[in-house]
Amino acid sequence: MTQDEAKRLAGEAALRELPSEGVIGLGTGSTTKFFIEALGGAVKAGAKYIGVPTSESSRALASSLGIPLLGDEGPWNIAVTVDGADEVDDALELIKGGGGAQTREKIINFASRRNVIIVDESKLSSRLGERWAVPIEVLHFAHAQTAKQLAAFGTVSTRMRDGAPRLTDSGNFIYDVATGPIASPRTLDAALRNVPGVVETGLFCGRANVVLVAGVSGVRRLVPKA
Ligand code: A5P
Repeated sequence: MTQDEAKRLAGEAALRELPSEGVIGLGTGSTTKFFIEALGGAVKAGAKYIGVPTSESSRALASSLGIPLLGDEGPWNIAVTVDGADEVDDALELIKGGGGAQTREKIINFASRRNVIIVDESKLSSRLGERWAVPIEVLHFAHAQTAKQLAAFGTVSTRMRDGAPRLTDSGNFIYDVATGPIASPRTLDAALRNVPGVVETGLFCGRANVVLVAGVSGVRRLVPKA
């Protein structure tokens, strides 16, 4: 099975986590793309779903598939959000933001009654930070000063695209902070958010109700330990 096939499997499995109708948060990334396509198929077949996109790319995809969308201003009554992740640990804590969308993703995650995360097996690790840096959205104003403060937490690099800093959908910078294995994601998240200029981090702690992990043996459904 290719990685794309696994991602598709996870995306399609997420459809079974939805109520029969309602408002659905639409995550961002290559795995969520398969979910949005599956949701588009359901809408085309008559299902009454309305989406809230976490990025301009997800908005464009959902619109092209005819999924009705709510505006950005909120508040929303979101039943379930389905989103991807870059790293998932044994406690189902997450690093997100590989696509630079973590701030909108976190707002919509917190606005949802349930959150379903879809990944392939390559995203699993015993400790967050082992395989992925923590993406930080940093306010445009004084971003280099904020980055200097972030250096206290690890090796900081500016997210680039096509030779220029990649800006978020809100026009901010993204700095990736390579921390190495993180002892306490919650403590680190609070400390990072305490730095002036930090808009949001890619650490999602206690925010996954279900993680669907696709691999050669199918889709495993993980839930947080009680
Ligand atoms: C977007 O900013 C991210 O949080 C994505 O959800 C995450 O990077 C997973 O993306 P893939 O499914 O493309 O790996």
